[in-house]
Amino acid sequence: MISLNIEKTLGFISKENVFAYEAQVKAAQEALENGTGKGNDFLGWLHLPSSITKEHLADLKATAQVLRENCEAVVVAGIGGSYLGARAVIEALSNSFAWLQDKKSGPVILYAGHNIGEDYLYELTEYLKDKKFGVINISKSGTTTETALAFRLLKKQCEDQRGKEMAKKVIVAVTDAKKGAARVTADNEGYKSFIIPDNVGGRFSVLTPVGLLPIAVAGFDIEKLVAGAAAMEKACGKDVPFAENPAAIYAATRNELYKNGKKIEILVNFNPKLHYVSEWWKQLYGESEGKENKGIFPASVDFSTDLHSMGQWIQEGERTIYETVISVEKTQYSLQVPSDEVNLDGLNFLAGKHVDEVNKMAELGTQLAHVDGGVPNMRIVIPALNEESLGGLLYFFEKACGISGYLLGVNPFNQPGVEAYKKNMFALLNKPGYEEESKAIQARL
Ligand code: PA5
Repeated sequence: MISLNIEKTLGFISKENVFAYEAQVKAAQEALENGTGKGNDFLGWLHLPSSITKEHLADLKATAQVLRENCEAVVVAGIGGSYLGARAVIEALSNSFAWLQDKKSGPVILYAGHNIGEDYLYELTEYLKDKKFGVINISKSGTTTETALAFRLLKKQCEDQRGKEMAKKVIVAVTDAKKGAARVTADNEGYKSFIIPDNVGGRFSVLTPVGLLPIAVAGFDIEKLVAGAAAMEKACGKDVPFAENPAAIYAATRNELYKNGKKIEILVNFNPKLHYVSEWWKQLYGESEGKENKGIFPASVDFSTDLHSMGQWIQEGERTIYETVISVEKTQYSLQVPSDEVNLDGLNFLAGKHVDEVNKMAELGTQLAHVDGGVPNMRIVIPALNEESLGGLLYFFEKACGISGYLLGVNPFNQPGVEAYKKNMFALLNKPGYEEESKAIQARL
C-alpha cells in the first residue's frame, strides 16, 4: 500500500548502521505491544484500526447523515490532535474548489477553535449568518480555551438562528466519557455525543470519532479509511521482519540521521492536497519527540510551490536537514498539455504530456539536486489519494512515531511542555484559581 525507499540516505548514513537498530526496534515494538514502555497508558491507538466495530462505524455514519441532511455548513471546532487529523484527510480528498462550486454535494466543512483570532471568528460568524449550520465540538479535556471560546460563540449563534430544538440535532460533541465542560454541556443539552477513549492521546486520535465523524460528514468513506489503516497495522506488526516493516525502517533511519547531525526533518509533498497531512505529521512528531532537550524538528514544505521560496535554503543552507518525500503515484484526473501553433512560451516540448509527468520530473530533479547538495532523502510512495492509502499512511506514521520515540528514549505519548503557555495566559487573564501566578507574572512585566 505504501513503499518506503531509503536508498538516497545511504550516501550519508550506512545501511549497516540502519540495520543495527533491529534489536532496539524489536524491543520498542515489544514495549508497545506489552505496554511496558513509557506512556503505556496511552496505547489505545495501537490496535485501533483492527478493533473498530461495524456498529461504531454505522453510528458515526448515521450521525454524519443527520448533519449532512440538515446543514449547509458544519463547523468542526477543535485544536491540535482534536483538529488536524480530520482536516488532513478532508483536504486531501476534497476537490480543491469545492468551496466555490454552486452545486454542493454536502455541507461545507469549516474549522474553528484552532486559533484565537477575533477577525477569524468574526468573519466565520458573519459567513454563517444566513446559513443552516451545525457544529462538531471536539475536545478530549473539554476545557481547551481556543475550542471552548469558539464553541460558546457557535452554540449561541446556532441556537439563535435555528432554535433550541434544531440546535440539539445539529450540535454533536466528541469528548471524554465523563469529565470536562464539553461532556457536561453535551449531557445537559442532550446532544448526540461520541467518546474519545481515555487511552488515546489527541495526536493519535484521527481514527476515533475525533477524525472519523468530520470525515464522514464531509462525505468520505470511513470504512475504507479504517480498512487502509488496518492493513497497515498488519504490515507494521511486531512479527513482521525488520527489513519488511516500513515503520521500523523509517524509525531507524530517522534516528540514525539524527545521530549524524541531521536535526531537522522536512516532510515534502508534490501535491497541494497533502498540506494538512504535513501539519498533522508535524504535531505527531513534534509533540511526541520534542522533549528532554532532544528530538528532530519536524518541518514541511509544499513543492513545487516552496521550491520558489525555501528551495534555496534546502539546496545550500546549513546541512542539518534531511527530507522525507510523500509521493502520490497516480492522479485522480487526467490533464494533458495542449500543443500551441505559435509556441511563444516554448512549451511545445511538453505537448501531449500529462501535467503529472512534469510534476514527477520536478520531483525526481529535486531529489537528485538536493541529494547532490548534501540533503539525505527518503521517499514514501502511496498509490493514490484515496481513503485506503490515507488510512494506511496515517497509521504508518503513528506506528513509526511510537517506535521512533522509544528509540530516542523519550515518552512519545505525553506533552508536558504544552502547559507552559496556558499557565501564563490564564495568569495574565486573571482566571480564577490562578491568583498566585497572576501576581508573579505581573511582577515580571
Ligand atoms: O495532542 C494533544 O494532546 C493536543 O494537541 C490536544 O489534542 C489539543 O491540545 C486539544 O486538546 P483537547 O482535545 O483536550 O481540547
